[in-house]
Amino acid sequence: ALVNTNKMLNQAKINGYAVGAFNIHNLETLKAVVKSASEMNSPVILQTTPGTIKHAGEDYIASIARTASEKYNIPIALHLDHGNSFELVVKCIRAGYTSVMIDASMLDYEKNVDTTRKVVEIAHAVGVSVEAELGSIAGVEDDLYLNDDKKSYTDPDTAVDFVKRTGIDSLAIAIGTAHGLYKGEVRLDFERLKEIRRLIDIPLVLHGASGVPDDLVKKAINLGINKINIATELKIPFANSIKEVFKQNPDESDPRKYLLNGEKSVEEVVKEKIKLFGCYDRA
Ligand code: 13P
Ligand code: ZN
Ligand code: NA
Repeated sequence: ALVNTNKMLNQAKINGYAVGAFNIHNLETLKAVVKSASEMNSPVILQTTPGTIKHAGEDYIASIARTASEKYNIPIALHLDHGNSFELVVKCIRAGYTSVMIDASMLDYEKNVDTTRKVVEIAHAVGVSVEAELGSIAGVEDDLYLNDDKKSYTDPDTAVDFVKRTGIDSLAIAIGTAHGLYKGEVRLDFERLKEIRRLIDIPLVLHGASGVPDDLVKKAINLGINKINIATELKIPFANSIKEVFKQNPDESDPRKYLLNGEKSVEEVVKEKIKLFGCYDRA
């Protein structure tokens, strides 16, 4: 059965590593993630954004994820990424999601607290874990584009208040990462991360990890990040490897052939990331 993220993330916190949360879009990408995680004997989080749910349907996604959780002997969670409404949260929980993010970080602070608290109340009633965000992470995620000058880093003292008042299980923080790839050099505010980790005792989440150099990822984990979101670094090789098939054989029409290439390329990235996150053999 699918599990919530509490046990896997708290174990990551105690032992100083991070669990990979991989954004999936279809059967092939989902299969690639769980197969790789199983080969690495690693817990794993499958996650979908509201856009993916609109595309594939929360019921279809939940059925495939549930099937995967019965096939493999590792903890697998199904998580709503950047949930943007109370209604969608309820829909996902009803479909079988075991974890949800409510992202009300674009609202003013008190509204973010109220919205998040309401989600925590209903999610906890049925054993579903809740992630929320404070500060705002720049870049493109689905239809949401956040300009660089609209981004704001997470304030440590506000984070303490936020965690206390909402009762969330994990907190996504803004320390300089952005969704998508980076144009210039990646600079992360490690002092801020240190301070947040010192003040808060729930697992911390790093969004926008695609494009962040390995040494910075490792440092973030050492300083207390316990869940790392990867979307773009799976999407690009998936698309590229399929493009490669058609370049070599423009007449290829067998989805089992061209999608298999995509699946294989995603598997490789997932395994590299699990190793990098220190999550190997932690199932
Ligand atoms: P990337 O696309 O940069 O990997 O960000 C993923 C993410 O944060 C999903 O919520
Ligand atoms: Zn994100
Ligand atoms: Na990124």
